[in-house]
Amino acid sequence: MTLSEKIAIIHAQSKFSSPGVARLGIPGLWCTDGPHGIRAEVKWDEWDQAGWTNDSCMAFPTLTCLAATWNTEMSLLYGRSIGEEALYRNKQVLLGPGVNIYRTPLNGRNFEYMGEDPCLSATMVVPYIRGVQQNGVATCVKHFALNNQEDGRHVVNVTLTDRALYEIYLPAFKAAVQQGGSWSIMGAYNRIWGQYACHNHRLLVDILRGEWGFDGAVISDWGGVSNTDEAIRNGLDLEFGSWTDGLTEGRSNSYDYYYLANPYLKKIQNGEVGTQELDDKVRNVLRLIFRTSMNPNKGFGSLCSDAHAKAAREIAGEGIVLLKNDAVGKKKPAQPVLPITADKRTILVVGENAIKQMTVGGGSSSLKAKYEISPLQGIRERAALNNAEVRYVRGYVGDIGGEYNGVTTGQDLRDNRTPAQLTEEAVNAAKEADVVLFIGGLNKADHQDSESYDRLQYNLPYGQDELIGALSKANKNLAVVILSGNAYAMPWLKEVPALVQAWFNGSETGHALADILFGDVNPSGHLPFTIMPALEDYPAHQYGAEAYPGVNNEVEYKEDIFVGYRYADLYGQKKPLRYTADGREFSINPPKHKPLFAFGHGLSYTTFEVSNIRFQKSFITGKNSVAVSIANTGNRQGKEVLQLYVAPRKSGVVRPKKELKQFCKVELEPGQKAGVSFELKDDMFCYFDAEKHEWVLDKGTYDIYIGTSSANPETKIEYTVK
Ligand code: BGC
Repeated sequence: MTLSEKIAIIHAQSKFSSPGVARLGIPGLWCTDGPHGIRAEVKWDEWDQAGWTNDSCMAFPTLTCLAATWNTEMSLLYGRSIGEEALYRNKQVLLGPGVNIYRTPLNGRNFEYMGEDPCLSATMVVPYIRGVQQNGVATCVKHFALNNQEDGRHVVNVTLTDRALYEIYLPAFKAAVQQGGSWSIMGAYNRIWGQYACHNHRLLVDILRGEWGFDGAVISDWGGVSNTDEAIRNGLDLEFGSWTDGLTEGRSNSYDYYYLANPYLKKIQNGEVGTQELDDKVRNVLRLIFRTSMNPNKGFGSLCSDAHAKAAREIAGEGIVLLKNDAVGKKKPAQPVLPITADKRTILVVGENAIKQMTVGGGSSSLKAKYEISPLQGIRERAALNNAEVRYVRGYVGDIGGEYNGVTTGQDLRDNRTPAQLTEEAVNAAKEADVVLFIGGLNKADHQDSESYDRLQYNLPYGQDELIGALSKANKNLAVVILSGNAYAMPWLKEVPALVQAWFNGSETGHALADILFGDVNPSGHLPFTIMPALEDYPAHQYGAEAYPGVNNEVEYKEDIFVGYRYADLYGQKKPLRYTADGREFSINPPKHKPLFAFGHGLSYTTFEVSNIRFQKSFITGKNSVAVSIANTGNRQGKEVLQLYVAPRKSGVVRPKKELKQFCKVELEPGQKAGVSFELKDDMFCYFDAEKHEWVLDKGTYDIYIGTSSANPETKIEYTVK
């Protein structure tokens, strides 16, 4: 390859593609968003859709939903299916999955990620990657690293301890690289230790290549590069999106002027830098090309197949979380609100999210879905089987937009009535109905669940809190269904007997929701994050603007390793937890409230009993494991998630009360019992020692809890690590 051929393949030639080497018959690379469907074709130089008529995709559930399945089989199915869609659309690099940790519920992009826990996200990301890459399509795991907020994402500088970095924020990326074998990774927009993530020496050279042995390509986030020298030296391989327009905005904005294009070439030509870094980058890019566009074994893929629709519905059905389901009414025995039984003759559906198309919007993950079954449509189809009547009223007006980069939903959601008129209509209709389903939450508009901006408030927007309150007074048979990728305040929780967390579930949204509401599918999703009562109850919001969203673009992770349930578990402790780490003083104030719903929580229409925790030793391998029995004690088939947490009794270092280390999903028929065992491994009992820069086995006595939520560790056993 000539020098200019080498320079050409390490940066973009269009919005989403990079060239190959035409003279040598080496094809280029086409990237696509990601992470929950294949983005519509865009124009060569612009974000706007190209207007093709053959590029509509299957929209899969967002990644919070996938994480909420706690089922690695769902993750593999997801990866395989979306990989097939990418392949059919001739894309070699899928820009996803995202595994940034859920640090604050205000982060507009949490819906693209896999929750607050490093073990859950690290476990769930691996099969997704394998599934995609089986197709000869690369995943591009994003956004490496510490892109935990959208506010100021292009400028903020994150400071944190090495311990928080290694224990909380890196494990999912490490698993993606080492176990998943991801062929590429995307640098984040933000800075860390004062240097931009896309050319951050410590992240990309020391950790990613040095410690983890990554042999794939590092791709910049679109427009994430800002310095040629750093981009040369600090491990970036492929530069994308530096300018939004390559042709019409003049010479200085064209692809030749990318940081890794002419400016790099000049430096080589005038002897300022050598070609060693260039050859490294070229090797990494060629390896990516060999693995994808030049892979002779790959097939042709498929788009919007029945199998993909089935996969989307199944994943959504396993990810929807039944948070609450109390019994109501005077009938004995009292019946829970859900599932909706055939004796419910009139079903009232209230709320904008029952009808709003959600696959358009939200930023780069926006899709042109071939179809999207709305909740109302799904409920109508299913209720028809019971000959039940479904009525719909709007209840509130939220976001009436429906366009993203030229893709439109075609919906006209305008409604000029006042909130008082809408509420009155809803309350009157609720009084007449046998059961009321409120379907609301967030949406994909700016400042909701959407890229580029964070949320402005923890409460649900558009007066939904008041409306839910009014509905709960009008009819006791009320189920609230929330579509969102984030937690939210629930001032109405006591008044609401049934609550369903239903995420954003793509094309099969309405079918999957109806499956759960009518009991055709028994809910088995569990929360991938903690839901606290108020924003102030989240650790990142304990320290004022310095910890979030930052002061003068500096964000300090003052809660350190106490993220999510690691923080919630400090409830009840009288004094702040004070310690020094990386030369900094930490003072973690315990939360004033318990979670409304704990990490890992999720109900079912059947009941399970976990018992008989015990140790086992394999005669064959000699390995130790801990086992439990689980029984389905109810009267319908169901799935349950067994979660194993380790809790050090005492430690010489500050440690979370307990940490998730393994989990597994079990399916049981009524009355069926099963034994489940988890192998005990040393790395379950380690913490990261920043001074030694290594994982250290923390010897001593532990409680090992196995349960069905972080707040409900049903059984425990003592274990000593010698
Ligand atoms: C987003 C990435 C995305 C890229 C390309 C960026 O703004 O942060 O997640 O893959 O655009 O659309």
